[in-house]
Amino acid sequence: MDIRQHMQKMAKKEMIKPLLGNESEIHHCDLQKIDVGILGTGDFARSLAARLACSGYGVVVGSRHPKRTAALFPTVNEVTSQREAVGKVNIIFVAVNHEHYSTLSDLKDVLTGKILVDVSNNMEINVYEESNAEHLASLFPECTIVKAFNVISAWALQFGARDGNKQVLICSDSQEAKCVVTEMARNMGFIPVDMGSLSTAKEIENLPLRLFPAWKTPVLLALGLFIGFYIYNFIISVIHPYVVKGQNKFYKIPVELVNVTLPCVAFVMLSLVYLPGVLAAIFQLRNGTKYKCFPCWLDQWLQQRKQLGLLSFFCATLHAIYSLSLPMRRSARYRLLSEAFNQVKNERENAWVEEEVWRMEIYLFFGILGIGMLSLLAVTSLPSVAGSLNWREFSFIQSRFGSAALVISTLHTLTFGWSKAFDSAQYKFYLPPPFTIALIVPCMVLVAKVYLFLPFVNRKLTRIRRGWEANRQVKFCEDGDASQFSNDHAENTSVV
Ligand SMILES: Cc1cc2nc3c(=O)[nH]c(=O)nc-3n(C[C@H](O)[C@H](O)[C@H](O)COP(=O)(O)OP(=O)(O)OC[C@H]3O[C@@H](n4cnc5c(N)ncnc54)[C@H](O)[C@@H]3O)c2cc1C
Ligand SMILES: NC(=O)c1ccc[n+]([C@@H]2O[C@H](COP(=O)([O-])OP(=O)(O)OC[C@H]3O[C@@H](n4cnc5c(N)ncnc54)[C@H](OP(=O)(O)O)[C@@H]3O)[C@@H](O)[C@H]2O)c1
Ligand code: HEM
Repeated sequence: MDIRQHMQKMAKKEMIKPLLGNESEIHHCDLQKIDVGILGTGDFARSLAARLACSGYGVVVGSRHPKRTAALFPTVNEVTSQREAVGKVNIIFVAVNHEHYSTLSDLKDVLTGKILVDVSNNMEINVYEESNAEHLASLFPECTIVKAFNVISAWALQFGARDGNKQVLICSDSQEAKCVVTEMARNMGFIPVDMGSLSTAKEIENLPLRLFPAWKTPVLLALGLFIGFYIYNFIISVIHPYVVKGQNKFYKIPVELVNVTLPCVAFVMLSLVYLPGVLAAIFQLRNGTKYKCFPCWLDQWLQQRKQLGLLSFFCATLHAIYSLSLPMRRSARYRLLSEAFNQVKNERENAWVEEEVWRMEIYLFFGILGIGMLSLLAVTSLPSVAGSLNWREFSFIQSRFGSAALVISTLHTLTFGWSKAFDSAQYKFYLPPPFTIALIVPCMVLVAKVYLFLPFVNRKLTRIRRGWEANRQVKFCEDGDASQFSNDHAENTSVV
């Protein structure tokens, strides 16, 4: 069968495929598999050849040194010269680095009319002006270029699509060639994703090079908060006793200081998840419309709430683990023994302080409840779980449970602090205890949320979010013409 017939057959198959359905319905193997070629004998070529062969394709590998490299390809039909390999097949994977593309120009005559699959990646984002695939297209204008498989590592190809990302992003200016490669990706156990024309190749090539772009600001913020709170706690808990009383409290550095710093970071980060929603509502109320864009910084902040929330959860989880290990430490045991000794010395029979007992019971109760609620939020942010919820369920859990988690964490911190905020002995070097500082932003967010919840504010906000605009009123023309909107800033909007 010639390549044209094959393409038409594949295109037909694409069209009869259902849009929705389970994978077994969609995944149908094309048992009549074709031979494909691979140029290059590197890591990627070897993994690709093995996977193609496992999926039932005949593979011909083209190498500059076929005799030397043949032993590396036990499963393929043939390892031969580049020219001979290209001559035998109609679809060729170019598993050669971008900088060596020009060395393939000798093959121009045999490559004419064939499909070249560009699998290449670069070392850095936007290193070349045009994408590698477009560069290949300019070198071989007589060929049809398809960009695919670059987001899959050689490792993932070898060990199966079940580990790691299964999506193969595909783009090409030829719909037919794209169909052929799409079918191949599916037969190899991957999920093909049509990304459109070859002009999107640059975007696809940049994808594997990105290193958690959405996490950069939240991680830096968390680190900044951690360093700030840690230094603050170090001054209060280590430097102050050393300077004032000559006491050595350096043993607090690895556990106690970290366990004061981590919850403060978790708490502040959690409030920073819910602050942008409040600011957005205030903007909408002030502008009297939801159709005015938010400032850029707020827009970005709104988009990074998931990362902020997950980092808060991470710090809170560590804090919970640290807290549970506090009594295990030798320092805690010595302190307990000393307290017991002093008690005996002072002839005190009972150390029970009712208020302290209740305070701790309550703050631990709220702490455990808080971490439980944050765990629920974290679980629903998993794509598989989020995918099983509808939009209302997801935003109910994220928005309502999230706000409740903030309230509970505030109660945990307040009951932990109790009257310490009003005890002058707690102010070392005139600095307030860390929990009072950690409380500032969360309390501001909660007060603002309560304000937004007041019936007259909430009503106005709800109307704005449904499309109502304060400064857009409807004018009725005298001659009975159709009503018109005007943009003067009158507040007393007439309702149609
Ligand atoms: C552990 C953890 C995990 C998280 N995971 C995720 C996650 O996976 N994905 C995620 O997005 N966030 C996640 N977050 C962040 C956070 O929970 C959500 O962003 C949450 O929706 C924020 O709620 P909000 O009430 O502040 O704001 P929103 O829910 O954005 O808005 C508040 C109210 O305003 C309404 N509203 C907002 N904008 C408009 C508008 N333009 N038009 C009409 N109505 C509007 C909403 O319907 C809602 O009633 C996570 C947080 C934590 C702590
Ligand atoms: N490795 C991965 O995980 C991975 C993942 C995604 C995409 N990719 C892409 O796949 C391509 C191949 O990657 P790789 O890791 O397999 O690279 P590699 O190990 O360096 O192999 C490149 C191959 O290109 C061939 N080649 C042809 N002309 C060449 C020339 N003039 N100079 C040097 N080599 C030449 C060589 O085979 P012969 O000597 O036999 O001709 C060589 O084995 C790259 O574009 C890469 O971006 C790789
Ligand atoms: C299982 C869950 C939790 C447990 C067991 C727990 C336990 C504790 C303990 C023992 C302390 C006192 C630490 C000390 O003596 O210095 C404390 C303080 C604190 N916790 Fe938690 N906590 C939990 C969850 C949370 C959560 C979810 C948050 C907020 C996101 C949080 C925020 C705080 C804060 C801000 C402090 C005050 C830190 C200080 O200034 O010393 N905790 N918690």
